[in-house]
Amino acid sequence: MGMGAGMHVIRDKKLLNSSVTMLEVEAPLIAGKVQPGQFIIFRLDERGERVPLTVADYDRGKGTISLIFQHVGRSTRLLSQLGVGDSIHDLAGPLGEPSHLQGIKKACVVGGGVGCAIAYPQAKELSRLGAKVDIIAGFRNKDFVILEEEMRTASDRLYITTDDGSYADKGFVTDKLLSLLDEGNEYDAVIAIGPVVMMKAICKVTKEKGIPTIVSLNPIMIDGTGMCGGCRVKIGGQMKFACVDGPDFDGHLVDFDELMSRNSFYVEQEREQAREQEQGQGQGQGQGQGQGYGQGQGHACLRTLKKEGAHA
Ligand code: FES
Repeated sequence: MGMGAGMHVIRDKKLLNSSVTMLEVEAPLIAGKVQPGQFIIFRLDERGERVPLTVADYDRGKGTISLIFQHVGRSTRLLSQLGVGDSIHDLAGPLGEPSHLQGIKKACVVGGGVGCAIAYPQAKELSRLGAKVDIIAGFRNKDFVILEEEMRTASDRLYITTDDGSYADKGFVTDKLLSLLDEGNEYDAVIAIGPVVMMKAICKVTKEKGIPTIVSLNPIMIDGTGMCGGCRVKIGGQMKFACVDGPDFDGHLVDFDELMSRNSFYVEQEREQAREQEQGQGQGQGQGQGQGYGQGQGHACLRTLKKEGAHA
């Protein structure tokens, strides 16, 4: 890996669990202006696939950003194999609309699986703005838990759930949210980030209770600039682009069913691609297809979690 000007050198690397990596990368221009909720698109070489990843953290002084991703497709697997001192060929961003968190006094931030990598910066920003923040973080089991200490620091109260009860509370994030509401906790807003099925379930609860809810969507993205249409989502009956209009949207307006059917289409394509690679046919450039989603924090990750059944 070269170290030339404009290269994004990896300054730190941590394996958060067996399939999730955190990289701290030099990117002074992005670090200087990125805000919570925004993402970048990386490419590993000239002709490589473009993969969106949410910026999980940033340090304006050091000029670095942190990326957290699950190794689900070819590009994220290759990215996870880079080490400290290596560089990432290309990082474009910050992209997308920053999260609108101003004015929220008491929030419940709900993260599912790798979605916690996006939920965490949102919680951190809310705390910085003076809001009271409860976090509910759900994982498939003990081995998938990530960012526990970080989320604890960014919140007033952190509740962890695991699907199988192998760590903290057994159950889904929706169960925990319902019990907090039953106990009389009140929130001005719920922010939910995780597998689509989880966000859908959370929105069902909050719609019934009349609590405004923000979700972060991660459909397939290709150019990230509103040109390709790959990331279109239906919001309140209108077509929007997650890359420029989002990725945050009013959860009560999102057509989750449409989102799920599109995602499963891409999952199929990705499997197809993997099969081809296994058979040694073609190098699977696969421009975007099947990758975009998962990769991202929640992005690619969400999809994989869905396959693994980590939902709420
Ligand atoms: Fe192409 Fe959003 S990624 S329009």
